[in-house]
Amino acid sequence: MYAFAKLLSALSLLAVANAFYVPKARANTPPANRPTGGSICSTTAFLVETVIPADINDNGGEPFPPSPITTYPTYTALSVGTQNYTCGDDGAWTGSGAITYLYDISCLPLDHHQPFTSFIAALWDAAPPTVTAADIVALTEQVNPGVGYGIHYWIPDPVNATSGNIYAKWDFSQSERMENDTNKANAYLVAGESANVPAPNDPSVNSNWLVEPVLVINGKKAGQLADQVFRINSNGGQAPNTTCTPGTDLQVKSTLDFLFYGGAWADTIF
Ligand SMILES: *[C@@H]1O[C@H](CO)[C@@H](O)[C@H](O)[C@H]1NC(C)=O
Ligand SMILES: *[C@@H]1O[C@H](CO)[C@@H](O)[C@H](O)[C@H]1NC(C)=O
Ligand SMILES: *[C@@H]1O[C@H](CO)[C@@H](O)[C@H](O)[C@H]1NC(C)=O
Ligand SMILES: *[C@@H]1O[C@H](CO)[C@@H](O)[C@H](O)[C@H]1NC(C)=O
Repeated sequence: MYAFAKLLSALSLLAVANAFYVPKARANTPPANRPTGGSICSTTAFLVETVIPADINDNGGEPFPPSPITTYPTYTALSVGTQNYTCGDDGAWTGSGAITYLYDISCLPLDHHQPFTSFIAALWDAAPPTVTAADIVALTEQVNPGVGYGIHYWIPDPVNATSGNIYAKWDFSQSERMENDTNKANAYLVAGESANVPAPNDPSVNSNWLVEPVLVINGKKAGQLADQVFRINSNGGQAPNTTCTPGTDLQVKSTLDFLFYGGAWADTIF
């Protein structure tokens, strides 16, 4: 990590990042009654419809809805990590989960999210094997401090342990942002999928774009962090289109964005 950070400063890459991606000055402050838990910067200029290609549903899959469940996202996160695959008995890779680190990008204008995410993807892809996704997030925190949200991973089916299905989970409960929040224990969510389409660019390499609604188990939402998540701006993450040896595992680097809608912190939007 240290050597890689030194290499980066030698190349002035962080200075480049600073020059191109200076966070917007905070226009307003969060509501006084909710000092913790929400986005650092305002999200009321973030209309995701404006950055989703108009032909997003033209290449098959389960179609994207015309708009999210609320106008503005509660959170916008950069995700850096790996998607995991296991080789099935048929010799094809099957998704077996992911571990990624999440980072608040609300201080960048929405139309900068895609190029910023590709910029971080290039750093992550070029990093030597000793550099972890957490190191990449630590580096980006040097550009924009105090913005770690938490982690994203997949869990076994919480309803039916023998179904073999896995579900996406996001957990902000340990983040510094939630430190004094009385509801922090519920700052997570487990979601299913309602939309799943090929990435607009290079879909054999970049993972699918998704819409993921909170899972409801016996009438109760599985977490209060959000009611709906959009997964967009994917870089990498797809398994290679090759046959594999049954039982082997593979980790593929993945850098993308999540937008979180609704949830118990929706009243912090400013
Ligand atoms: C996914 O891969 C990571 C290494 O990148 C590993 O730490 C993690 O345990 C794996 N998770 C699953 C569910 O396979
Ligand atoms: C759980 O999943 C298994 C495997 O798909 C299925 O056979 C079983 O019926 C499911 N159980 C319930 C309660 O849905
Ligand atoms: C939590 O409260 C403590 C004590 O008032 C304060 O020092 C700290 O900055 C607060 N943390 C956050 C993230 O607001
Ligand atoms: C994978 O490769 C096969 C054979 O080359 C091809 O028919 C198929 O369309 C490819 N699938 C994807 C998702 O690229």
